[in-house]
Amino acid sequence: MEKILVTGGTGYIGSHAAVELIQAGYEVEILDNLYNSKIAGLDRIEEITGVKPKFYNVDLRDAEALAKVFAENTYDAALHFAGLKAVGESVEQPLRYYENNIGGTINLLECMQEYGVKKIIFSSSATVYGEQDSQSYTEQMITGQKITNPYGRTKYMIEEILKDVTVADPEFEVTILRYFNPIGAHSSGLIGEDPNDKPNNLMPVIMKVATGEIDQLSIYGDDYPTPDGSCIRDYIHVVDLAKGHLAALNHMDKGVQIYNLGSGEAHSVFEMVAAFDKASGIKLPCQVVGRRAGDLPGFYADPTLATEKLGWTTELTINDAMRDTLNFLKHEGLELRRDS
Ligand code: NAD
Ligand code: UFG
Repeated sequence: MEKILVTGGTGYIGSHAAVELIQAGYEVEILDNLYNSKIAGLDRIEEITGVKPKFYNVDLRDAEALAKVFAENTYDAALHFAGLKAVGESVEQPLRYYENNIGGTINLLECMQEYGVKKIIFSSSATVYGEQDSQSYTEQMITGQKITNPYGRTKYMIEEILKDVTVADPEFEVTILRYFNPIGAHSSGLIGEDPNDKPNNLMPVIMKVATGEIDQLSIYGDDYPTPDGSCIRDYIHVVDLAKGHLAALNHMDKGVQIYNLGSGEAHSVFEMVAAFDKASGIKLPCQVVGRRAGDLPGFYADPTLATEKLGWTTELTINDAMRDTLNFLKHEGLELRRDS
């Protein structure tokens, strides 16, 4: 049985990937410092799969502790989700982002080299594309230009580091997955997005407005050159995204492979609100406010390469994601507001 180290595996996307891997027959071990996730995530993974992954409460920046984990185990590959991801915070605290995301990744790669682990799948982001001439992003497009924040630059820089590592060691197998906008939760309702901090992304904000924790949703602009004036994005169900990692793991190869993981479809903010209203039966209080600095009018994945090379494609819709999000809220014991 292949043994996989999942960094950031108690987090939102990592926990869903851990579930898919375990269900596909992999042995999964999770390493996380629990900065943005909870230890209870492990019990939830066990409830879904019947297997409780071995867990290391280790910070990737702690090289000594990390080396101890590698010394104790023989891993076939690492799935590397661990990182800080709040765009606004990264503008305020750039050094913390560079230190955590890049420093942590370098430590991980050093351990992998030292202990002969030669396969890594890295969680990158559509943010590495920045603004492009076309809204449909392909992997061939130039990256690293016009990235608007330090978080995005950490993703770009890590991609470049990974490419250099494969040049130095041709045996290394790197797969870079560029996620579009992950949403939704596991159909069991047991795992989902549960940020410790104040949310900034659309779905976590919608969830907090729905439960009354936030008064209303601020819609950032209705004067964009899009069909209804609000920004359009490629929202991908987190379970589809998790399955993309499984497909990638089954198709590792020497050198670097890069894939977009998105649905190829774009939805506006107004469409997302309408889908949530329909699924929940409530009317989310919303107000159109000014544009948010740095937002692009629209972008979405061209997922052709992942379909052709990995045999992967999305199967779930934004309506599935809304249903699963509501189910997750219910399992968390959160009730929807009654004033709307
Ligand atoms: P998350 O915050 O839920 O999970 C990340 C996990 O990494 C957390 O559990 C956190 O505690 C852990 N972590 C952070 N720094 C660590 C460190 N130094 N050592 C050990 N553990 C550490 O985030 P997520 O949404 O699951 O994202 C997973 C990955 O995907 C991240 O790298 C993120 O940048 C990337 N990504 C996310 C999105 C998105 O919208 N959610 C989009 C594109 C890319
Ligand atoms: N939005 C609102 N109100 C909110 C939050 C978001 O109207 O309270 C709008 C945004 O303006 C945008 C859309 O909802 O039009 C999606 O916003 P998110 O913040 O959820 O996602 P972004 O597309 O801005 O960015 C996210 C990550 C990036 C990553 C990108 C693609 O934050 O790091 O997805 O993966 F690059």
